[in-house]
Amino acid sequence: MSKRVLICGCGYVGLELGRQLVAAGHTVFGLRRHAAAGPEMRAAGLTPLIGDLTQPDDLRRLPGAFDWVVNTVSSTRGGADEYRQVYLNGARQLIAWLRDAPPTRLVYTSSTSVYGQTDGQWVDETAATTPDTETGRLLVATENEFLAAADSPTLQPVVLRVAGIYGPGRGYLFQQFVRGEARLQGTGSRCLNMIHRDDVAGALSTALERGIPGQVYNVVDDEPVSQFDVLHWFAAQLGRPLPPVATAAEAAGRKRGLTDKRVSNRRLRTELGWAPRYPNFRTGYAAEVAAAQNSPAA
Ligand SMILES: NC(=O)c1ccc[n+]([C@@H]2O[C@H](COP(=O)([O-])OP(=O)(O)OC[C@H]3O[C@@H](n4cnc5c(N)ncnc54)[C@H](OP(=O)(O)O)[C@@H]3O)[C@@H](O)[C@H]2O)c1
Repeated sequence: MSKRVLICGCGYVGLELGRQLVAAGHTVFGLRRHAAAGPEMRAAGLTPLIGDLTQPDDLRRLPGAFDWVVNTVSSTRGGADEYRQVYLNGARQLIAWLRDAPPTRLVYTSSTSVYGQTDGQWVDETAATTPDTETGRLLVATENEFLAAADSPTLQPVVLRVAGIYGPGRGYLFQQFVRGEARLQGTGSRCLNMIHRDDVAGALSTALERGIPGQVYNVVDDEPVSQFDVLHWFAAQLGRPLPPVATAAEAAGRKRGLTDKRVSNRRLRTELGWAPRYPNFRTGYAAEVAAAQNSPAA
């Protein structure tokens, strides 16, 4: 049955989710702060809404009610104050506003950065969430706002912990590599956890359709991979040397908050029947690598 869907923070992932939901016959609205985002939301088949999730007056002006609500807002600047405002305060305002007209499903995209583990262990959704950084702790607090709302009989929140997102035009490490700015961290043994944008959108659709209220799911591909293996593969594909090892000064600037863990997607796979279209970074990066191989700079 066709749903009225609101995607708050309709950016890189939200636009792809919107495209998929529109293709499935739903009516989708995308919320962003800047009117300049209107054309790309329209081009994806969405109705653009311009407003700020953290502002109750803006939320009251939205054309509710909605059957499904997704919160994919992201802090474009990195500091703790910005995180507190966009994630934590945004969550509080959204939940307060939705109490008057609750959707049947509310899905929030958190991050696997809530797992602060540094010893390379496998982590599932029951693992400790005690990150070393203030921004990580703010993401944990934001998750808790949503999960506490599950106590209300009317709100049906689901939390997705999303790994590092890459896809068309995105992928931090790959872009660094292409620019010649990537650096190996020591031996490069630290594990990275990744997910293609389209698979995040697929996981969001799955959570909207059949996520268990109050439940948390990791959204990550099947293959945690060492930083060395990723850079080695990029180098082989593009016929370039492996990047140099970070200097002590470069490494010191990045040390805080660096985790080393293997995040499991077992719950999302087995309990909700989700499967990634791109089970590892090599399949997911094939198109970006091919484009870089054909560009004169590569
Ligand atoms: N990128 C990653 O690797 C990663 C990893 C783990 C989790 N996540 C999470 O995954 C989700 C999707 O990420 P993404 O890469 O799609 O983010 P994105 O491209 O930055 O899109 C988020 C959008 O939110 C909008 N926004 C920011 N603050 C807002 C506010 N107060 N009110 C309304 N809209 C607001 C921004 O547009 P305007 O500036 O026009 O408002 C932006 O386009 C986010 O929740 C992010 O935290 C991302």
